Amino acid sequence: MTEGKPHIIEAISLGKTYKKREGPVEALREFSLQVEGGEILGLLGPNGAGKTTAVKIIMGFISPSSGRVLLNGCPLQPAMPRPAIGYLPENFRPNPNLTVLEYVKFQCDLAGGSINGPGKSRALNLLNLVGMDRFPNRRISDLSKGMGQRVGLAQAFSGDPELLILDEPTSGLDPVGKSEVIEVLLAMKQRGKTIFFCSHILSEVERLCDRIGILVDGALRFLGPTEGFKRKWESSDLDECFKREVQWAKS
Ligand SMILES: Nc1ncnc2c1ncn2[C@@H]1O[C@H](COP(=O)(O)OP(=O)(O)O)[C@@H](O)[C@H]1O
Ligand SMILES: [Mg+2]
Repeated sequence: MTEGKPHIIEAISLGKTYKKREGPVEALREFSLQVEGGEILGLLGPNGAGKTTAVKIIMGFISPSSGRVLLNGCPLQPAMPRPAIGYLPENFRPNPNLTVLEYVKFQCDLAGGSINGPGKSRALNLLNLVGMDRFPNRRISDLSKGMGQRVGLAQAFSGDPELLILDEPTSGLDPVGKSEVIEVLLAMKQRGKTIFFCSHILSEVERLCDRIGILVDGALRFLGPTEGFKRKWESSDLDECFKREVQWAKS
């Protein structure tokens, strides 16, 4: 921790066990990490690794079975004011009956714009930022998955938050769309935003991250810069390193 400045996110020994009829599922074990102001930290792991569980606990949507979360040094408590966080959920499904502009403007108004005032122009700016400015009047129900994901990003940015928490932001996008979203997130970083996101495709997000966390079966196997992860597995091919880490964890 920098002197006097708390971590933006601090997860301390988080554990989460879901109770299912077939028996308990241990989704997260002793999960600890800190996210520093201005960095992009990518949490990478195969499907079912526990990424969404970690995100939901950090967002305060579900409670951990053990451990705790501090946001800007303060414990998460229900109904307490929280730092402004832009959030993109894993399964982002806005109201299908609205148009893109109506939806994003609504989000901007909720985030503090005035009803007829800057909400609309801010919404148009956001649509421009995420490459959706050509489709303001398209209905949400008629969007492709990739377009929907861009609208999801626009709503995450609507309150101009310092911290963005994004669950699989490039999911459903074609290669061009992925690379555009990565550009948008890099632009967000340039504006000083902090980004914590998860993904299951390492190579895709490599150029985005200052640090990566590798999560396998609920346990954080690596936390540090990508270069360190490559050194760990003595390969310059990140996908290969990732595959080896997962195989090692499961062996
Ligand atoms: N609400 C839930 N009830 C029971 N099990 C769950 C629930 N949510 C997730 N799980 C289980 O927890 C594990 C981690 O899931 P998740 O956090 O969604 O992983 P990821 O996002 O990395 O794919 C999986 O085994 C999943 O089946
Ligand atoms: Mg997930």
